[in-house]
Amino acid sequence: MSEEKSAHYSVTWQEEEYIHPPNDFVGQANLTDPKIFERFSLENFPECFKEFADLLDWDQYWHTTLDTSDAPCWKWFVGGKINASYNCVDRHLDKYKNKTAIHFVPEPEDEPIVHLTYQDLYRRVNETAAVLRDFAGLKAGDRVTLHLPMTPELPITMLACARLGVIHSQVFAGFSGQACGERIWDSESRVLITIDSYYRSGKLLDHKAIGDVAVEVAKKEGQDVDKVLVWRRYPGKYSSAAPVVEGRDFFMDELLKEYRGKTVEPVSMPAEDILFLMYTSGSTGRPKGAQHSIGGYLAYVTWMSKNIQDIHPEDVYWCMADIGWITGHSFIVYGPLACAASSVIYEGVPTYPDAGRIWRIAEELDVNIFHTSPTAIRQLRKAGPDEPEKYNYDFKHMTTVGEPIEPAVWRWYYDVVGKKKAAIVDTWWQTETGGFLCSTVPGLAPMKPGSAGPGVPGIHPVIFDDEGNEIPAGAGKAGNICIKNPWPGLMQTIWKDRDRFVSTYYGKYNTNPDSKDWRDWPYMAGDAAVLAKDGYVRILGRVDDVINVAGHRLGTKEIESAALTVQEVAEAAVIAAKDEIKGVVPDLYVALKPGFEASDELAAKISQAVSTVVGKIARPRSVHIVPDMPKTRSGKIMRRILASISNQTEVGDVTSLANPDVVELILKKVQG
Ligand code: WTA
Repeated sequence: MSEEKSAHYSVTWQEEEYIHPPNDFVGQANLTDPKIFERFSLENFPECFKEFADLLDWDQYWHTTLDTSDAPCWKWFVGGKINASYNCVDRHLDKYKNKTAIHFVPEPEDEPIVHLTYQDLYRRVNETAAVLRDFAGLKAGDRVTLHLPMTPELPITMLACARLGVIHSQVFAGFSGQACGERIWDSESRVLITIDSYYRSGKLLDHKAIGDVAVEVAKKEGQDVDKVLVWRRYPGKYSSAAPVVEGRDFFMDELLKEYRGKTVEPVSMPAEDILFLMYTSGSTGRPKGAQHSIGGYLAYVTWMSKNIQDIHPEDVYWCMADIGWITGHSFIVYGPLACAASSVIYEGVPTYPDAGRIWRIAEELDVNIFHTSPTAIRQLRKAGPDEPEKYNYDFKHMTTVGEPIEPAVWRWYYDVVGKKKAAIVDTWWQTETGGFLCSTVPGLAPMKPGSAGPGVPGIHPVIFDDEGNEIPAGAGKAGNICIKNPWPGLMQTIWKDRDRFVSTYYGKYNTNPDSKDWRDWPYMAGDAAVLAKDGYVRILGRVDDVINVAGHRLGTKEIESAALTVQEVAEAAVIAAKDEIKGVVPDLYVALKPGFEASDELAAKISQAVSTVVGKIARPRSVHIVPDMPKTRSGKIMRRILASISNQTEVGDVTSLANPDVVELILKKVQG
């Protein structure tokens, strides 16, 4: 790690004391065998992962656990055939037919909670698959874009696709039509599946209109969408101002009438075929489609759900993430359902209509496993620090994911939300990795507030400095966290862009691009981290141009290129400004083309452009129109200096800049 970077990622939290998981939790935990780490040592790699695959029902058992012939695009469980929808639904019918698979909690509190049993889910997935196959003409290997919010139709549609071997690409509902359209184009989807409307903060939002924009954008890029399938939030009633395009738009509830009771045989798919694409942000403006396999991915998230989330079939499990992000795919839909859990889906905003909503839902549904992000915890703590104790629920297990959690926030989560009775796991992982990389095993190891924990069984982390030297545990120095070995949940590649995959994740530390030996291919995650003596990892943040706003992953380049669509803007730079609730938020600096004047109207217009192009979640905290960007002599914008200005930290020595004087001007403008 260069001087500049390690200074930037200085560790400010104290090393915390261990907290041991409650005995009641340990007594019932799925994984308490201390030999687990021996079984998953590197000597036993890759065969140890058989234990993961054996949690699934295979149509045909595989012959090769790991095929490295196309390194670093690994193939897992080769020769195996499997269907993900069968594993999440059909196989539970014998034992759990009448058990709830999905509890759907609508945002309006006067709308009843919907409890879908595994039998209901089976029926709805089959009928939906029939529409996709027989009406929309979709078949194995086709891609379809979903732009769906948090209603049961989202997992139903995903599982219907999986049943057919159709590759789903779900785009977070909060993303704009522009962002969705680009993803339709990149994935070459000719079908878009959306919904007319859904609730957020008490408002029924018009969502279909955004789908129309997406179709237009995709068309301009050269991808035609010939069918838009529209779920309706209230079947039979269209709640959108957007016109229904004859011959292109169809209401799912109407189509389904033709397919009542229809069953669709799950298509037996090769394990290493693609289950889904999940677009995520990287260092360039263009989002990358993380390509996840069927067998490896499903085996990985199922094992993690069982052993790190500690899901038993009798548990009521609530992950408050959005299914539009990887956390929801892995830990609302595929993992928990493969474990026959009852999984809760909540449509709306955590603090709507008041700070007690979440705890009321937990009480009503008897939720005993709870999973959320530090941003949500901070929000809930701010809105109602004493709310949890007013409600009668019991969590045995809680998860935090998506950003580093401050020890003080961790303690509120443990003491007040968990009532000191729940084990907490701080799970560090990424869209690319399919499932957890670092976390404690909750029935085996103590928790340490602010640290994720060691690698989970089967994952062997290492921290390298910029030269590729290993930074030993306990050295107290930050470096780039890498994983020494491949694992079944790891993405196969970036959709249609193998070169970008290889250079992004392996370019820095692979020394022999022709090697077929996995030992030559440490996976570089793109996070800075420190490794304590006890093997616990503390994640400090991204080393690349990605920022995590409220746990939503955004590319600074995407925001910058959105700002550049405004014709007055000559240059744009986004930095991560610290925020009490959201962790970080984007602060946008722009310089104008000659002849244009700064004004509040122009700043508002630029902010609006970001919202339109990327989505509301990317809207900058402020737009600073500055006379010029601080630049190195080679013309590189010094984002670090802008970040110091936004975060009111020492700017440091700027004399080597090409234009040192501008720093003073910007400081005055921003800090007054
Ligand atoms: C960050 C979300 C600290 C990290 C699952 C990573 C975390 C990025 C943690 C991936 C954690 C995720 N502690 N930081 N427990 N979990 N991150 O792809 O910077 O949306 O690289 O996946 O989130 O974000 P993504």
